[in-house]
Amino acid sequence: MVELTLPKNSRVTTGKTWPKPEGATNVRKFQIYRWTPDDGKNPRVDTYFVDMDTCGPMILDALIKIKNEIDPTLTFRRSCREGICGSCAMNIDGINTLACIYGMDEIKGDVKIYPLPHMPVVRDLIPDLTHFYAQHASIMPWLETKTNRPAKEWKQSIEDRSKLDGLYECVMCASCSTSCPSYWWNGDKYLGPAALLHAYRWIIDSRDEATGERLDDLEDPFKLYRCHTIMNCTKTCPKGLNPAKAIAEIKKMMVERAV
Ligand code: SF4
Ligand code: FES
Repeated sequence: MVELTLPKNSRVTTGKTWPKPEGATNVRKFQIYRWTPDDGKNPRVDTYFVDMDTCGPMILDALIKIKNEIDPTLTFRRSCREGICGSCAMNIDGINTLACIYGMDEIKGDVKIYPLPHMPVVRDLIPDLTHFYAQHASIMPWLETKTNRPAKEWKQSIEDRSKLDGLYECVMCASCSTSCPSYWWNGDKYLGPAALLHAYRWIIDSRDEATGERLDDLEDPFKLYRCHTIMNCTKTCPKGLNPAKAIAEIKKMMVERAV
C-alpha cells in the first residue's frame, strides 16, 4: 500500500478574525485563505467583515477595500477590473472565476475565497502560473507561415475569421485548467483546457500553414488525450468559452487525418 506523508504546512488553520466596522448595518463576512511562504507557518483562513454600504458590487471591490482599509498584507493579483486581463482568477464560493466580474449578490451567506486549486501558491491568493504559461508557449501561439510574406497583410475571409470567435476571447486566467481533475493529476504532461483551446485557435486559423506539425505535436497520450470530457472547464469559464468543444474538435481532426 502506498504511504503518503503530507507536508507540514498542508493543514489550513483558523486565522485572525478582524473586527466588524463600527456603526455599519449592512455587513458581509469574508473568509480568505492566507499563506506567507517566509514565516514558516501553516496556511490559515482569516475572517473579515466588510461594510456593503461603502463597497462596490464585485468580489474584487471587497478585496480592494479589505486591502486598503483593513489589512494591507492581503495579497492578490488584479489589473483591468473588467474581465480582460485574466489576472484576478481565484476560487470564490467553490467556483474558479474572475473576482472583478463576479458579483457579491451571486453568493448566499459568507464569502469564501481561496487561490485557484491544485497550483503552487506564491502567497495568499496568488498561484504560480509559470508552468501554465510554459504550456501555452509550447503550442506555438502565433501564426506559422511558409509562403512568402505578402506585401501588406495576411488576408482572411469574413467566414474564416468567424471560426476564431469563441476562441480568441480567452484571457488566459487558468480557471478552466485548474478546475480539471485530469489537469490536477497530470498537469505536468497534460496540456489542459486553456493551452488546448489556444492550440485549436491556431490550428483552424485559415492563414496558418503549420496545421500538420501542430497536430503531430499533440498526438500524444498525455498532451491531448488526458482530456476525459469531464466538462468542468466549460462550466467554469468566466468568459463563457467552451474549451471542451475545442479539445473535441482537435480529437476529431486527429481521427479524420488518420483515415
Ligand atoms: S478558456 Fe476561459 S477559463 Fe480557460 S483560460 Fe481562457 S478565459 Fe480562462
Ligand atoms: S482584474 Fe483583469 S480580469 Fe479581473
